[in-house]
Amino acid sequence: MNRASLPRIAVRSRRRWLGSAAALCAVGASRGVAIAQPGSAPLERTGGPYVPTPWPVVDHMLRMANIEARDVVMDLGCGDGRLVIEAAKRHGARGLGIDIDPELVHLATAGAAREKVGHLARFEVRDIFATDVSEATVLTLYLLPEMMARLQPRLLSMLRPGARIVSHDYMFREWRPDTQFSFDVPEKKAINGVPSATVLLWVVPARAGGRWRLSAPAGSGLDRAELDLRQSFQWLSGQVRPVRGAAGEFDGGTVRGVEVRFSVPVESAGRRGRAILSGRVEGDRIEGRIESALSAAAGRFEAQRLA
Ligand SMILES: C[S@@+](CC[C@H](N)C(=O)[O-])C[C@H]1O[C@@H](n2cnc3c(N)ncnc32)[C@H](O)[C@@H]1O
Repeated sequence: MNRASLPRIAVRSRRRWLGSAAALCAVGASRGVAIAQPGSAPLERTGGPYVPTPWPVVDHMLRMANIEARDVVMDLGCGDGRLVIEAAKRHGARGLGIDIDPELVHLATAGAAREKVGHLARFEVRDIFATDVSEATVLTLYLLPEMMARLQPRLLSMLRPGARIVSHDYMFREWRPDTQFSFDVPEKKAINGVPSATVLLWVVPARAGGRWRLSAPAGSGLDRAELDLRQSFQWLSGQVRPVRGAAGEFDGGTVRGVEVRFSVPVESAGRRGRAILSGRVEGDRIEGRIESALSAAAGRFEAQRLA
């Protein structure tokens, strides 16, 4: 699909957005836009008006999400369906786009059929908050900041660890992106007054926070130690309490999907140093490796959740 092949409705809708909502975005206002359809109730576009993501931004979003054929891509507020359709065309990924606007859902369904990916890309008329996103491994968003803020807790609780969220321009209020990238997109000058776009990526973190009991090599100083992990989104800090010796604080740890990595102070064979623990969280268990310049501390570890 390319811009030339977009039916006129998209162009009309875009102009409408230019008139009514460019200022909305530019000044950061975040109220949804209600547009009356003849003979029907107004559409409550609580996530914002229809503005298609420009094609160069679509490219960056799909690349940043690192989509594979096994992914399930969902676009909340899918517009003409371009992100879901392109993910299906380029990567063979299955996808679902939902939009509150039946005209756009019709347009997206027709687009998928035209691009011969109707068996992979589906579209439904639905409100964002009536959508179960738990099956998505990749979520694409181009929604106003207030909707992003409302979505944050829902996405964190519904999406599986490791799911990627890619957003065009807007971010969550507290949850900082893992990666973001801004680049020139001259055509956006006409849309929101800024000739550039930002693409942001979050990887849904596993629940790693809590109290854990470590099993580690006997000479590591960490065997049977208790670990308090404090988690703030993808960041970890905490305290390690060895069976013998002083407790030690740490921060700067990370959770990326199910992968955790943090560095703790250790005392091993009478020497003090640090150990880096990296592993995978599977529910109430972490398994991984310890690296340390103190050779007695290095090896494999397991942790079992206590609370
Ligand atoms: C800025 S457009 C993004 C379109 C598409 N995702 C893209 O990037 O090209 C936002 C879309 O969200 C839809 N939308 C707004 N509020 C919604 C809601 N509460 N439920 C479902 N769709 C909504 C609008 O109709 C519009 O098509």
